[in-house]
Amino acid sequence: GGDFSQKIDYVFKVVLIGDSAVGKSQLLARFARNEFTLESKATIGVEFQTKTLIIDQKTVKAQIWDTAGQERYRAVTSAYYRGAVGAMLVYDMSKRQSFDHMARWLEELRGHADKNIVIMLIGNKCDLGTLRAVPTEDAQEFAERENLYFMETSALEATNVESAFMTILTEIY
Ligand code: GTP
Ligand code: MG
Repeated sequence: GGDFSQKIDYVFKVVLIGDSAVGKSQLLARFARNEFTLESKATIGVEFQTKTLIIDQKTVKAQIWDTAGQERYRAVTSAYYRGAVGAMLVYDMSKRQSFDHMARWLEELRGHADKNIVIMLIGNKCDLGTLRAVPTEDAQEFAERENLYFMETSALEATNVESAFMTILTEIY
């Protein structure tokens, strides 16, 4: 018939996790709306945005969930991970501590999410080259050991953001 409304073949839920201020919300803003805010506020509770893409001639609706890195603002953990088929574990490559915490975030993720979830480690803020506190090799080694995909991104400069989301969505698919 004459129905031109978009037919969605798949809905993929992807969750963002990592310490506060690593840039989770800005990665999402860059991916979903091609926007970036320097004075971004800490997330409170849960937010999500969707973006519809074509992968392999199928219409895929990516539903990306974003929550607070700060414990006191975090949402109910089990609800956040429920149904997620992908996860992005984000650290700030200029903040060593945010990388050192990745093991803990991964543990929480593996404790709550489906065992087949596709996980990508993201070293964000790669535009801050001279302030680098996490060598690429350290992150690569961690990613290999834990079986994660890995990419360095910049939400500010839009480096690898599209590519990171597309990689995870394609792997889910
Ligand atoms: P919570 O919501 O508290 O968990 O933090 P968040 O991980 O969502 O961080 P958010 O996206 O709000 O970004 C924190 C700060 O880092 C903001 O000032 C952003 O503008 C900045 N920021 C985010 N991404 C980048 C980036 O790629 N490069 C640079 N230089 N700054 C960034
Ligand atoms: Mg946020």
